[in-house]
Amino acid sequence: MTRSVDFLVIGSGIAGLSFALKAAKHGKVLIVTKSNEDESNTKYAQGGVAVVVDKKEDSFEKHIEDTLIAGDGLCDKEVVEIVVKEGPERIQEIIDYGTNFDKTNKGLFDLAKEGGHSEFRVLHYKDITGFEIERALLEQIHQNPNIEILTHYFAVDLITQHHLGEFVDKSSSDITTYGIYAFNTETNSVEKILSKVTVMASGGAGHIYSITTNPTIATGDGVAMVYRAKGKVRNMEFIQFHPTALYNPGEYPSFLISEAVRGFGGVLKRRNGEEFMQEYDPRKSLAPRDIVARAIDNEIKKSGEDFVYLDIRHRNKADILAHFPNIYAKCLDIGIDMTRDMIPVSPACHYMCGGVMVDHDGRSSIRRLYACGECSSTGLHGANRLASNSLLEALVFAHRIYEDAVKQFESNVIPDNIPDWDEKGVQLLNEDILVTHNIREMQKLMNDYVGIVRSDFRLERAMRRLGLLYEETEDFYKKTKLSVKLCELRNLIQVSYIVVKSAMLRKESRGLHFTTDYPEHQGIVEDTVLR
Ligand code: FAD
Ligand code: SIN
Repeated sequence: MTRSVDFLVIGSGIAGLSFALKAAKHGKVLIVTKSNEDESNTKYAQGGVAVVVDKKEDSFEKHIEDTLIAGDGLCDKEVVEIVVKEGPERIQEIIDYGTNFDKTNKGLFDLAKEGGHSEFRVLHYKDITGFEIERALLEQIHQNPNIEILTHYFAVDLITQHHLGEFVDKSSSDITTYGIYAFNTETNSVEKILSKVTVMASGGAGHIYSITTNPTIATGDGVAMVYRAKGKVRNMEFIQFHPTALYNPGEYPSFLISEAVRGFGGVLKRRNGEEFMQEYDPRKSLAPRDIVARAIDNEIKKSGEDFVYLDIRHRNKADILAHFPNIYAKCLDIGIDMTRDMIPVSPACHYMCGGVMVDHDGRSSIRRLYACGECSSTGLHGANRLASNSLLEALVFAHRIYEDAVKQFESNVIPDNIPDWDEKGVQLLNEDILVTHNIREMQKLMNDYVGIVRSDFRLERAMRRLGLLYEETEDFYKKTKLSVKLCELRNLIQVSYIVVKSAMLRKESRGLHFTTDYPEHQGIVEDTVLR
């Protein structure tokens, strides 16, 4: 089956949905998404959206400065200014779409604080901000006749000149995409979806590690697809570990204990109740994430225990319940009353700071392909994302992409000789367990060798093991009938390879990339770009 649309969007999180709503004013939009329509990292966002709304205490300059400090010298300052300054207008749009944010008794926004923020500036809806945003966006999408969503459709590969039998050199600036091959999980067949413009909004890659806060959809598919199509990816060594995932062995993925709990007064402690963050950073429990995660990693290594504690018991019970009803309920579910007990926490893979390299309009190095949200690398986050800047980035760039894409989509012609998906010679092997084994093996090696503290020796070990998994998986992929799990395994291995390769190229420690072989900053500040 072949479909043809003006705008193709891969992913139904905040990035994909907010772009779709705007583009639909100009043409037909098709969203393909691999799970249920709301399943996304967006849905699980807790803390909120960082944005300057209180101009008395806060200012654009302060938000810009905080973002640059967290990014440890690698942010693109122009992009930081764009996102911070255009943020308020974009936030007003989602409020107009029906998104609720908590307010105080005086009717002002109830602003929260998180690590690395010098002011209270995080808009939130209790501790389920992402769920609320996703709900409001989807309600708008459902009312729009120009938007169709295909759920349980898995984007497999970008269609480029390569599929027309043309040789495309890696260094070419002419690589163009005409859409995607997508796997329809209901019919178990691959369909061709052609588009004048494609927006990759496929989110993160938390599942390259087994301990992650990300839902299972986060398998780095977009980055892997773009890399296979010879597009540029940037700064992929910067994988953010959230310091405080709930320690609950056997739960996969991990449940997040929002940084907003620390912003609300929560303090990190050792088992004996001693505070420790003052030994690592004057900002203590509210230092930027890279610093707090490393400190906890060190505490865990020293004590031989699997976690540290987060203590919020000193706050009033009613306030805790009002701000964190979801976190309270989850903890209670496993026997922890956070108003009386300290919460056991440990770091978990949380966010991909790098991604598909894009310019200030969200254009990737592949023509007609934009990337937006967590799968993209805009330059905002540098070497470490400031808390709650991700949702904001997605909104600002979705708008910029929209403005650029509507100017050019009508003149984009799609060739009429694009072949159907070829699955000659493949067999149904019914050996899903082999795929599961390889995913576990890959996650384990990433946990063991590419964690919060790295070294050349560990990275080389990881690379050798990944090489073997890569060869095995590619061989299996060529011979086997497609399945979502197999595609995800392939993408996870591809992304892990990119992370390790990028980490090996960075001969310094910066932000989230800390290596014992080069513990200091290098003189020159450079992005890591792979193609
Ligand atoms: P997502 O929301 O992840 O959406 C990606 C979409 O792409 C999904 O619909 C997925 O199914 C689809 N997809 C992926 N691959 C394919 C494929 N091959 N084919 C078809 N569809 C595909 N950020 C903040 O700013 N503030 C917060 O408070 C915050 N809290 C967070 C809490 C948690 C637990 C997590 C996990 C993240 C949090 N983040 C937060 C980060 C933020 O939620 C994400 O970075 C952001 O939501 C990403 O949005 P997105 O639209 O780019 O991707
Ligand atoms: C959190 O609530 O701690 C997550 C915020 C974020 O990832 O930006």
